[in-house]
Amino acid sequence: DAIAVGLDAPYSVEYHDRLPSTNDRARELAVEGASDVLVVAGEQTGGRGRLDRAWASPPGGVYASLLCRPDRPPAHAPIFTLAAAVAVTRACREAGVDAVIKWPNDVLLAGDERKLAGILTEMEGEADRISWLIVGIGANVDVAAADLPETATSVREAGGTADRRRFCQRMVEEFHALDPEDVLPAWRDHAVTLGRAVRVDTPGGVVEGEAVDVRFPGALVVQTDDGERVVHAGDCEHLRPA
Ligand code: BTN
Repeated sequence: DAIAVGLDAPYSVEYHDRLPSTNDRARELAVEGASDVLVVAGEQTGGRGRLDRAWASPPGGVYASLLCRPDRPPAHAPIFTLAAAVAVTRACREAGVDAVIKWPNDVLLAGDERKLAGILTEMEGEADRISWLIVGIGANVDVAAADLPETATSVREAGGTADRRRFCQRMVEEFHALDPEDVLPAWRDHAVTLGRAVRVDTPGGVVEGEAVDVRFPGALVVQTDDGERVVHAGDCEHLRPA
């Protein structure tokens, strides 16, 4: 049941039926000196999400971590996360599901905005160069609603083609094919956050206002009552339905 065999992309694939976390396995490979490896698991027993949350990882989901060593400064890392969000959104759409992106990288079902996929990027940097970068993607593809948190849904539940292997292939191919120059325009095209009233919980406090743009390498520009704020990281909440 190797879902990711035959990728049309220059990554070698390491498939496991079950792992604690594909990001953790990719990190082991990074420490061993490997690069350009896609670690895929059929399920995870210790899936990790952003902000120290657990990521429910039942069988039927796609759990994949891409290990690479881009020749970029560490500050550029967020652009890879945005690129992954675009790639996953396109894979969802190809599967027939109307997916949209919430800043920075949540892939949601358009309309009720339940979560289809999330991305956890981890990195080790030297002073001026990324040493390794792991882009971990968890996508609810062939998963029943009963196996997911209430705030989540799946490609299958949303009426899409729940073919995990094809989904994984599309997502990696889209990621690989994305020209760095095209990431922000593509992200804007797919985003549902821009133009919305948001509350962003940032390490420096809460920022509330209207999300007006995204700026390289992935910051959200928020128009607040006190002027424009550029937010680099945080948990974003849409304050009203679209
Ligand atoms: C989020 O909080 O939205 C990010 C979730 C990221 C989950 C993926 S599943 C594959 C990879 N391995 C992990 O342990 N986490 C990421």
